[in-house]
Amino acid sequence: MKMRYIKAAIETRSLNVFYGSLHVLRDVNVFIPKYCITAIMGPSGCGKSTLLKSFNRMLDLVEGAKVEGKVYVEGIDIYDDEVDVYWLRRKVGMVFQKPNPLPMSIYDNVAYGPRIHGIKDKKMLDKIVEGCLRKVGLWDEVRSRLDEPATRLSGGQQQRLCIARALAVDPDIILLDEPTASLDPKSTERIEKLLHELSRDYTIVVVTHNIGQAKRLADYVIFLYMGRVVEQGWADEILNSPRTQLLRAYIRRELGKVPSLIRV
Ligand SMILES: Nc1ncnc2c1ncn2[C@@H]1O[C@H](COP(=O)(O)OP(=O)(O)O)[C@@H](O)[C@H]1O
Ligand SMILES: [Mg+2]
Repeated sequence: MKMRYIKAAIETRSLNVFYGSLHVLRDVNVFIPKYCITAIMGPSGCGKSTLLKSFNRMLDLVEGAKVEGKVYVEGIDIYDDEVDVYWLRRKVGMVFQKPNPLPMSIYDNVAYGPRIHGIKDKKMLDKIVEGCLRKVGLWDEVRSRLDEPATRLSGGQQQRLCIARALAVDPDIILLDEPTASLDPKSTERIEKLLHELSRDYTIVVVTHNIGQAKRLADYVIFLYMGRVVEQGWADEILNSPRTQLLRAYIRRELGKVPSLIRV
């Protein structure tokens, strides 16, 4: 268990999100501690991905999505008109469930972001590419085939490449939406180990509905149910002694048996 930083990397205040008339997130107030791994948990459809996307304004790209309330990243109100969304998405990177390498070489995948941000110097790009591939433990596996299409890598390698791509623009926070859901146990273990290492230098927020994974990874847990935060707190407390019947049932994988009368 990590030393308990109490500084927030992200905080929300009365966050409500709608897709058209569907009210998906309801009065969400969460705290994401800096340089920790936060797991966002909850049953399918409870709003985990939506919450994650609210943290770097990915919801701007979703037709019909409306955001009310506040999201602060390092104290900055990110829905303020003055905020440069490109700056924000650079600071808060995102990795998805299905590895999505760009249709280009391994090298170009990592160099893509830095190039967009104006870095042209080949030596500088080489250094960034090597550094990021080393951070995700891919360098030795790919150093002799940097010009090959990224799609030739295995699923687990592709996911680590996507993390390297996110790291290449020098973010502070990395959001991962069920990053191991499509991977085999061995690749999953590598990614979990990697996230542990990265949490020394970055704030990590990971959506997972795998309780074992949350136990292995999380310093802090946010448990959502039907768009509301039911519990949040340090992982050892939350996962070992949940306060609510809902979370107890979820941890025992018995949520289907929870009486629908329970108020959240
Ligand atoms: N683009 C969208 N338009 C309309 N409804 C959506 C959209 N994306 C998600 N939803 C709905 O919002 C709810 C929450 O979705 P999501 O955040 O993806 O949940 P989770 O990641 O926990 O499974 C679900 O009911 C889902 O069907
Ligand atoms: Mg989701």
